Amino acid sequence: MNVDVVRNVLSDEVLSRFDPETDEATGLPNACYTSPEWLRAENERLFARTWMLAGFCRDAPGKGDVCPVEMAGMPLLILRDNEGEIRVFHNVCRHRGAVIAAGKCSGRKVLTCPYHAWTYGLDGSLRSRPHFFGGDRHDTDPGPGAPGLVPVRHAVWHDLIFVNISGDETPFEEHWEPFARRTRQYDFSALRHAKTLEFDVKGNWKLIYENFYDAYHVPAVHPRLNEMTPLAERVGARTEGPWFHNTSRMIQPQEGRGVGMPFYPGLDERGRTTEWYFHLFPTAGIQLWPDQLAVFQLHAIEPGRTIERIHLYFIGEGATEPQYARNRRNVYDMWRDLNTEDFEIVENMQAARSSPGFDGGVLSPYWDPATRHFAKLVATHMTV
Ligand code: FES
Ligand SMILES: [Fe+2]
Repeated sequence: MNVDVVRNVLSDEVLSRFDPETDEATGLPNACYTSPEWLRAENERLFARTWMLAGFCRDAPGKGDVCPVEMAGMPLLILRDNEGEIRVFHNVCRHRGAVIAAGKCSGRKVLTCPYHAWTYGLDGSLRSRPHFFGGDRHDTDPGPGAPGLVPVRHAVWHDLIFVNISGDETPFEEHWEPFARRTRQYDFSALRHAKTLEFDVKGNWKLIYENFYDAYHVPAVHPRLNEMTPLAERVGARTEGPWFHNTSRMIQPQEGRGVGMPFYPGLDERGRTTEWYFHLFPTAGIQLWPDQLAVFQLHAIEPGRTIERIHLYFIGEGATEPQYARNRRNVYDMWRDLNTEDFEIVENMQAARSSPGFDGGVLSPYWDPATRHFAKLVATHMTV
């Protein structure tokens, strides 16, 4: 466990700066964005111990379909079993620890380890061990007590699959409730996945995440977005447990944002001109507009490098029909442009995190309470 590196970075003095009672509150210190040891500690103490967006049901559409993913620095596999249910396991053989599924595959009846060919059922149980007792002396019936694949706690929300590797985070329904409560009028079953955009960003995942919920930068960084909803109509992000959220009225809807595509069925008048921003600590985001759902997923590769994916869902025919092809392109272009504007600033800040002239910053009491809450959430996970 990387306890020492955590305590070196988050001394009692630094921890006291995240205290909401003081006027001297700051964000996280530089090392949290630049240190490889810190990122290793995040894998163990943060990413493995909360609910993380790990994958998508669409990646294993049929029985026997298998999709490996990496979470918190660990290999996992997602599969669809013989009953059609999604299951998640550690992607590692119980014999000598080889990775079992190296790539996506489909229609499997069993999973076979590439090293000595032990086989596992889609329920994770060990099925056979060839030559286990010597040449041609197979173990064909290992029995119920035999070492099967190790399951990973998971939860499914529509297409999204979340995992809690440590197994002891609060139940998913409780974790998800602040989102569910605010979005009851949206019929998410109408969503269809249309496209995933991928970006390789030279910045720490936390800078990207902190920028997601920061409304204060819109006029300087996103002039077009500012036309749609001026800053005077915006407020700083609200927080509730692991959720950061915000909402605003679209004063001036634009192509790619709230115009030309089918809306969620049954949306009321207010819903038809409302945008919602939700960010689920630590690495997921959901932007909800009348005509789409954009799911953001961050994957920390290095302290200064993150893969960001935006999974775009539209309503019914909006995702598939040729008549909406131009609208869909507008949405993709809009997200690319908006994100490119954000990456420039994230990469700018990543470079500046090596400067002793900054070590946590000076926060706005109006816009930045969420940044202090974020620092507190990180610190709590890392030190408990
Ligand atoms: S490591 Fe998998 S069968 Fe030996
Ligand atoms: Fe932005």
